[in-house]
Amino acid sequence: MTDIDSLKEEIEGRIAAAADLDALEEVRVQAFGRKGRITEMLKGLGALDPEARKATGQALNQVRDQLQTALEARREVLKAAALDARLAAERIDVTLPVRPEPQGRIHPISQVIDELTAIFADMGFQVAEGPQIETDYYNFTALNIPPEHPARQMHDTFYVRGKAEDGANLVLRTHTSPVQIRTMEAGKPPYRIIAPGRTYRSDSDMTHTPMFHQVEGLVIDRDITMAHLKGCLIEFAKAFFEVDDLPVRFRPSYFPFTEPSAEMDIGCQRGGGELKIGNYGDWLEILGCGMVHPKVLAMAGIDPNEYQGFAFGMGIERIAMLKYGVPDLRTFFEGDPRWLKHYGFAAADLPTLAGGLTR
Ligand code: FA5
Ligand code: MG
Repeated sequence: MTDIDSLKEEIEGRIAAAADLDALEEVRVQAFGRKGRITEMLKGLGALDPEARKATGQALNQVRDQLQTALEARREVLKAAALDARLAAERIDVTLPVRPEPQGRIHPISQVIDELTAIFADMGFQVAEGPQIETDYYNFTALNIPPEHPARQMHDTFYVRGKAEDGANLVLRTHTSPVQIRTMEAGKPPYRIIAPGRTYRSDSDMTHTPMFHQVEGLVIDRDITMAHLKGCLIEFAKAFFEVDDLPVRFRPSYFPFTEPSAEMDIGCQRGGGELKIGNYGDWLEILGCGMVHPKVLAMAGIDPNEYQGFAFGMGIERIAMLKYGVPDLRTFFEGDPRWLKHYGFAAADLPTLAGGLTR
């Protein structure tokens, strides 16, 4: 075997063994670079006599062409392999399973607050708020329930130890009605607000819990009448319960802060661990209401000869029970995940009048 042949074989072997493009480039430089072995041999041709130069030159040219073809072929193979490796490394698995449905649920009370807010907002009401620890004055006195008034006993009040900074007695608010006063003190009439929130009374059975929610409503303007009160509440109830022939009744009642006063009931059936809306002869009280008492307006700095209006206070658990068929109010606050899975709502289902309150 000639030197050329053995060199050719050696380089061919190293081309075949090159594991990647960098290794192959090294082989190429060692053969064909400025100081490459083939380059050196080609340079050496000049020293040969003409005969030998011709024969060796031809042989060298041939070997050079063959090796360059082999390099080129190997380069193609390694390039393809490098691309494959990169594609494999940067691969995005579009077959990943979709995320599982979230386990968390919106509590029916939160859902119902969103629903009723959507309905009243559509009627032009704004949402107002007040503190849950309230002064005796806002919870009672300003609502025409002076100290020693027997109506204070109707509320099973939780009294708070200690006093406000100004020395006022504190209670856990027994209703959302103090927000009426805070709203009237904070701005000029007309008012059209709802105030949903927590309320507290020492009370517990199938339809009462020590902590519950009410939504207060207050509408004050120059020409508001009892007809507006009835129209507004019946309209609300039909939209909320999504029933057109909803059985409702207004019963005359008494609240120190309204005159006249009424309570509104929804027709239902209770029993067998079920609660159903309908004309079955049984009723569930959902709210108290009436025309705001002139004394309450005057105490809040509003002239009762110029302005009048109505107010209501609705039990949020009560309307949630009726709409979603929850027979026992206490289960709302037991924190049982199975109960919440059954009665709760998906987080993305925001209630709107246009999109549907409940889906
Ligand atoms: C009031 O609290 C008045 N502030 C309502 C009002 C507001 C009248 C504005 C006039 C003008 P009452 O005590 O009846 O009224 O309670 C109102 C509603 O709260 C009830 O109809 C009932 O739905 C709900 N409720 C009362 N106590 C509880 C309780 N312990 N648990 C759950 N819901 C209750
Ligand atoms: Mg009542």
